[in-house]
Amino acid sequence: MSVQQIADLDVEGKRILLRLDLNTPLSEGQVADDTRISAALPTIQSLSERGARLIICSHLGRPRGQKVPSLSLEPVAARLADLLDTEVWFSHQPVGDDVEYLSKELDNGAVLVVENLRFNPGETSNSAEFGRRLARLGDIYVNDAFGVMHRNHASVDSVVESFQNAATGPLVHKELAALAELNDDPKRPYVGILGGSKVSDKIGVIETLMGRVDALLIGGAMAYTFIKSQETDVGASLVQEEKLLLAKRLLERCASKGVKVFLPTDHVAATSLDSEPIVTKELTGDLKGFDIGPETVNLYSSVIARASTVFWNGPMGVTEVDAFSAGTQGIAQAVADADAYTVIGGGDSAAAVKKLGLGESFTHISTGGGAALQLVEGRTLPGLEAIRRRAGQ
Ligand code: 3PG
Repeated sequence: MSVQQIADLDVEGKRILLRLDLNTPLSEGQVADDTRISAALPTIQSLSERGARLIICSHLGRPRGQKVPSLSLEPVAARLADLLDTEVWFSHQPVGDDVEYLSKELDNGAVLVVENLRFNPGETSNSAEFGRRLARLGDIYVNDAFGVMHRNHASVDSVVESFQNAATGPLVHKELAALAELNDDPKRPYVGILGGSKVSDKIGVIETLMGRVDALLIGGAMAYTFIKSQETDVGASLVQEEKLLLAKRLLERCASKGVKVFLPTDHVAATSLDSEPIVTKELTGDLKGFDIGPETVNLYSSVIARASTVFWNGPMGVTEVDAFSAGTQGIAQAVADADAYTVIGGGDSAAAVKKLGLGESFTHISTGGGAALQLVEGRTLPGLEAIRRRAGQ
């Protein structure tokens, strides 16, 4: 179902409350990676050139309703000013009389960034009152923050109730279109690749994918819960004991649906993250698997090479440690080389492909891990629903 986009809006002279995802890594008070800021530039520039007055809001990190100076959006506003090569105003308060006054004083085309929304507890509790106060900053609401559209937060959800006019931005639109292709008649063979540490985070997506994909490749620590559910020793690897039965059942259901599930056949293992790694086919004693091994990379790569559609979410190993990152790199290369419709579902797998300089080799790299998973699971997003409600759709 389509929602209103910014091209449909008459924005000249209007105050646009623009929700962006500027959740950006900072280091020593400076922006360490401006990917998300750069990604938002076309949206900001197009609205500004059309004479809109922009009030930009975002979260940064998880300050839990407290003012945490190291999570201020001020350095982000400064980097935005550099990238736009224009003045960007900054308000230390995200809501209140002062910022409301400032929003009304903005010239057409001007840009104001307000402080981290999560400094206020009303943001994450989806407070109606905080939503109403935030809404006083704009005449029109635009959400271009795909990475938080799965959150029931005030700037995503309750704020929308106060607007007559609400729309999604181009980044959100691009994400929705790319992910919809996975759900609407994907080309076969369709291969799902799932990694990460917890089976519990991926139950929904496994259940959905088993009805859609031809093969599932499993890596990351969650593979050990699946392997152990087959009564194979995993040494001291991380296992979600309470999910063993569920993992066994999921494998049985995949088999009954004709979905081929691949589990690692070898591992890069060690007794701890800082001890000497070995490649092994068997995990015993105090050995912990921290990455998929080279044989598994080859096996998975051969499955990926035959795919016409690939969806990948979650790393294959502990990518923060070089010794345990080869599996994720190998899979990233295989997906990049595939002649297929390839979607990376955000988070650590997206970071890994970017680190390898492979960012251009995929059909789509989602900016939102959680939001992308939710869509692939066939669930809707609260941020999208809020905008649809406004449009009476
Ligand atoms: C992200 O970085 O994934 C988004 O900005 C969402 O952040 P959150 O997981 O803290 O809500």
